[in-house]
Amino acid sequence: MLTKDEVDILLTAATHAPSMHNTQPWRFEVHEPVVDVLLDKERTLDVADPAGRAARIGIGAAAFNIRVAAAVLGYKSRLVADPDPARPDVVARLFLGGRKTPVPGLGRMYGAVSQRHTYRGPLLDQPIPARVRDRLDEAARIEGAQLHWLGPWATSRLAELLRQTDTADLADEDRLHERLRWIGGDRSGDGVQDSALGPAPARPAVVRDLSLGFESPHRGQAVYETQPAIAILSTRAEDAVGWVHAGAALQRVLLTATSYDLTASFVNQVLERPETRIQVRELICGRYWPQMVIRIGYPAQPAGHTSRLDWHDSFDQWF
Ligand SMILES: Cc1cc2nc3c(=O)[nH]c(=O)nc-3n(C[C@H](O)[C@H](O)[C@H](O)COP(=O)(O)O)c2cc1C
Repeated sequence: MLTKDEVDILLTAATHAPSMHNTQPWRFEVHEPVVDVLLDKERTLDVADPAGRAARIGIGAAAFNIRVAAAVLGYKSRLVADPDPARPDVVARLFLGGRKTPVPGLGRMYGAVSQRHTYRGPLLDQPIPARVRDRLDEAARIEGAQLHWLGPWATSRLAELLRQTDTADLADEDRLHERLRWIGGDRSGDGVQDSALGPAPARPAVVRDLSLGFESPHRGQAVYETQPAIAILSTRAEDAVGWVHAGAALQRVLLTATSYDLTASFVNQVLERPETRIQVRELICGRYWPQMVIRIGYPAQPAGHTSRLDWHDSFDQWF
């Protein structure tokens, strides 16, 4: 039986997961030996994420963190997405196996769970060694996804698509209002406060300025790297179950990256509009569906971190 301390370890790990705009769109239930992660409909982004794709990626990442924490506690685990047609709100179910000794592999990532943060500042001009890229590719593959690394031509094509999307976003009042609800200012608990936004780009760069279209007066400016390493996490499946597994793959990649002192941020605005997402799909040859556009490298500056709600605030019941 899970003890209170074990539930605390599992759900604290879950809440460290990334989520779009730090909405934390999850709720938890414990039905031993099962932990359920549910979609919190109060925390979805109806304008930028109408199908719930990003929310499910966040839930997949939270579920992966539960698996990592379970491994440290000695539980084997299995993730099933959309396990119960009678309960469509349960998006991810973790089946925990009998308690043994710490499960190697997954458990080794536990330290990275609380160290990983999205880093939106400039990156050092230092290439990622080929063997480290191989480990990141492998991490994606283990969870059934792929990483496509963009070459210089594809990166400049992506930069064009980012400019196109940013221009469209600037004129989009509904998206602007939705971002204002979650982004900027001095906030804690959820959302992304000014100090975590990274400096504003002094020149066009392959980054996402989450505060695009509104004032964030306390931010400095910086010149960003000219050739960032961009990896597109993609899946063959483009459905609700596939999105949860994409989230697990994302988190395995990010925790692996953290263990090599790499940081990541995302330029996902191009995936939030069907017309640009399809063009990103063409950049990776059209067979896979792009789920996350990851800008990855070694950080050049310290960065502010987002905060989290306490897991008790997202906890429904212990049966
Ligand atoms: C599906 C998804 C989409 C995201 N898109 C972006 C993005 O386009 N730009 C960005 O800077 N961060 C993006 N993020 C990162 C979140 O803003 C970040 O995870 C959240 O603020 C929590 O902060 P942390 O990752 O530092 O813990 C995304 C995260 C997820 C899971």
